[in-house]
Amino acid sequence: MSYSSTSASFMSVTVILVAMMLHRSNGQLNATFYANTCPNVSSIVSSVVQQALQSDSRIGASLIRLHFHDCFVNGCDASLLLDNSSSILSEKFSGPNVNSARGFNVVDNIKAAVENSCPGVVSCADVLALAAESSVSLSGGPSWNVLLGRRDSLTANQAGANTSIPSPFEGLSNITAKFSAVGLNTNDLVALSGAHTFGRAQCRTFSNRLNNFSGTGNPDPTLNSTYLTTLQQICPQNGSGTALANLDPTTSDAFDNNYFTNLQNNQGLLQSDQELFSTTGAATISIVNAFSSNQTAFFQSFVQSMINMGNISPLTGSSGEIRSDCKKVNGS
Ligand code: HEM
Ligand SMILES: *[C@@H]1O[C@H](CO)[C@@H](O)[C@H](O)[C@H]1NC(C)=O
Ligand SMILES: *[C@@H]1O[C@H](CO)[C@@H](O)[C@H](O)[C@H]1NC(C)=O
Ligand SMILES: *[C@@H]1O[C@H](CO)[C@@H](O)[C@H](O)[C@H]1NC(C)=O
Ligand SMILES: *[C@@H]1O[C@H](CO)[C@@H](O)[C@H](O)[C@H]1NC(C)=O
Ligand SMILES: *[C@@H]1O[C@H](CO)[C@@H](O)[C@H](O)[C@H]1NC(C)=O
Ligand SMILES: *[C@@H]1O[C@H](CO)[C@@H](O)[C@H](O)[C@H]1NC(C)=O
Ligand SMILES: *[C@@H]1O[C@H](CO)[C@@H](O)[C@H](O)[C@H]1NC(C)=O
Ligand SMILES: *[C@@H]1O[C@H](CO)[C@@H](O)[C@H](O)[C@H]1NC(C)=O
Ligand SMILES: *[C@@H]1O[C@H](CO)[C@@H](O)[C@H](O)[C@H]1NC(C)=O
Repeated sequence: MSYSSTSASFMSVTVILVAMMLHRSNGQLNATFYANTCPNVSSIVSSVVQQALQSDSRIGASLIRLHFHDCFVNGCDASLLLDNSSSILSEKFSGPNVNSARGFNVVDNIKAAVENSCPGVVSCADVLALAAESSVSLSGGPSWNVLLGRRDSLTANQAGANTSIPSPFEGLSNITAKFSAVGLNTNDLVALSGAHTFGRAQCRTFSNRLNNFSGTGNPDPTLNSTYLTTLQQICPQNGSGTALANLDPTTSDAFDNNYFTNLQNNQGLLQSDQELFSTTGAATISIVNAFSSNQTAFFQSFVQSMINMGNISPLTGSSGEIRSDCKKVNGS
């Protein structure tokens, strides 16, 4: 090889490496993104969440669910937070969110507190990620360094919310496919389902299991009979379907690993919960057993899976914008 072709190929390798490094620093989130521009952002978020928890013990659960429903639709870009407008069909009215997703007012309070200290700096997508972490740690779960640097979308995707967010009536294979579609694996599915260790669900999301499951004339056979009686009392057959049951009947507001012990006892509330343990031959069963017997193992996996979920297709660099009002695109 001649000198000039060697130096040319050395140059092109260098160009590729530099391009990859630039891409890396532009495209990746990190924990110190606001270190100079809003160093106290985590504690600002945490203090508003803590305040909200004093009057609403459910709000932490509601807030982490918002981050999940944001990330599964066009990535973690706060598309969920946009209201209807002439050009926006809000995700808030999609099947999984309508009359269900809650906590938007608290998100607005957090954003206002953050804007007060660091105007125009912190995205609404990062507010959701930080609020999710605060909600878990303030409820007795693990704390972690949230990766930051997401920017906010200019659009919403209501159709995407209808199709990409898993439904509680879907089988394990469909739900696994929806996680896989956003780059999350079976371990992520089981770990993140552990968020159902706190919060509530409406009767309409599980009442199909209580009386005539799949047209059998009987309740879901994987539902513990004592628990069944309790749930039948909460959810009268001709009720409106909006009554609430705790997702974790043992420690309803604490973030712990009891969710997995519940599944072993046939006390999963949603069909999609119990399937993780009761689907014959499923790869999820041994993960449920591992998390049930070792809370540290659950917490470690949960943190890693929250980071994985938070990394779904963020807008970075100069894509999108930093919204000043989470409900609206700037200037609209
Ligand atoms: C695996 C598929 C999942 C399905 C099918 C599912 C389904 C549901 C349903 C039907 C509800 C009750 C909604 C209502 O009654 O209004 C709910 C609540 C909840 N979900 Fe999930 N979910 C899943 C995964 C997740 C993930 C990954 C997270 C977070 C990491 C999460 C966090 C929550 C929380 C905390 C609540 C309670 C919210 C509140 O009390 O306001 N879920 N989920
Ligand atoms: C974090 O990401 C931002 C934007 O990509 C970058 O400017 C900054 O240098 C990164 N910080 C570290 C410690 O990597
Ligand atoms: C950061 O915020 C917390 C909670 O709001 C507050 O107690 C603390 O004094 C703040 N620190 C700085 C340096 O602003
Ligand atoms: C927003 O649009 C939905 C249809 O997607 C409609 O059902 C709803 O009433 C609208 N909400 C508001 C506040 O305008
Ligand atoms: C999404 O689902 C909701 C509720 O089922 C429905 O009202 C709405 O029209 C659907 N939107 C789109 C764009 O498919
Ligand atoms: C599972 O996904 C398939 C293919 O998308 C769909 O036809 C089927 O209705 C889904 N099953 C359930 C129970 O939602
Ligand atoms: C259960 O549902 C099936 C199918 O929808 C129906 O044919 C049957 O009559 C129902 N059984 C009872 C006891 O209601
Ligand atoms: C529910 O309503 C149906 C029809 O209105 C009625 O036949 C049935 O007895 C009711 N069931 C209960 C448990 O009230
Ligand atoms: C039903 O739940 C109780 C705990 O409430 C448990 O002791 C029992 O083993 C469970 N039964 C089954 C069949 O899982
Ligand atoms: C529990 O899990 C942690 C983290 O994976 C591990 O270090 C520890 O050894 C496990 N404890 C037991 C008793 O297996």
